[in-house]
Amino acid sequence: MSHIKQVALVTGGNRGIGYELVKQLAVNGFKVILTSRDSEKGQKAAQILQESKLDVSFAVMDVEEKESIRQAASAINDQYGRLDVLINNAGVYLNEHEKLLAMDPGILEKTMATNFFGAYYVMHAFLPLMEKQGYGRIINISSGYGELREMAVPGVGAYKLSKLALNGLTQLTAAELKGDIKVNAACPGWVSTDMGGPSAPRTPKQAAASILWLATIGSDGPNGGFFRNGRQIDW
Ligand SMILES: NC(=O)c1ccc[n+]([C@@H]2O[C@H](COP(=O)([O-])OP(=O)(O)OC[C@H]3O[C@@H](n4cnc5c(N)ncnc54)[C@H](OP(=O)(O)O)[C@@H]3O)[C@@H](O)[C@H]2O)c1
Repeated sequence: MSHIKQVALVTGGNRGIGYELVKQLAVNGFKVILTSRDSEKGQKAAQILQESKLDVSFAVMDVEEKESIRQAASAINDQYGRLDVLINNAGVYLNEHEKLLAMDPGILEKTMATNFFGAYYVMHAFLPLMEKQGYGRIINISSGYGELREMAVPGVGAYKLSKLALNGLTQLTAAELKGDIKVNAACPGWVSTDMGGPSAPRTPKQAAASILWLATIGSDGPNGGFFRNGRQIDW
């Protein structure tokens, strides 16, 4: 009897935590679609994993571009006809010390466009594939900066708001979706990537491993939660 592999997709899979999520999903038996906004970088990253005999393919997708998302969803529907796991990982961190109302508002717009609307439109485009089979696991990569209590601490305003909104999107969609489709958010911790910088204590490998349990939870698993290291955060 042939075993049908589950299909997983990761946004921003060409580097950092996203790349490691792709790798670990493939090691764990998924057919994984590594997506990247840059064709060359994405193909190169997928090729490295394919050379290790991992079942990884590449699709171009810029989460800020609705047409790019639509085309990727249509191509994946045609090619695989299903999507079991979706990880909204692509993100930007563009402001640190600037005050929200003193900085260029374009920073807030760009951050929301990627970290919040990017995840929203990707979910919007790929949900029909999950609804078709009445099954899906969606993981939104959030941050401790998205906790409500962080809003009382000055700084990192655009990024904090984008992740707060992403957490809200996670809860709302979890409450609205029907069937065995679960949506959860996860904070990877402080991770040594281009975004996290070299002083961060966690490796991308550790971060991915702390998140991926959410990809295989059963029908009795959590829905609408926000987790760090497997523990629910009361945000
Ligand atoms: N690192 C940390 O300490 C930390 C902590 C908490 C949460 N996070 C979250 O974890 C996720 C991954 O972060 P990371 O540390 O791996 O960051 P990273 O190394 O900077 O990688 C970010 C990834 O997102 C992609 N990306 C950005 N804008 C995109 C767009 N419009 N369309 C498609 N892809 C896009 C980048 O692609 P390009 O290569 O084309 O730029 C890259 O692949 C983010 O959501 C981040 O907010 C990270």
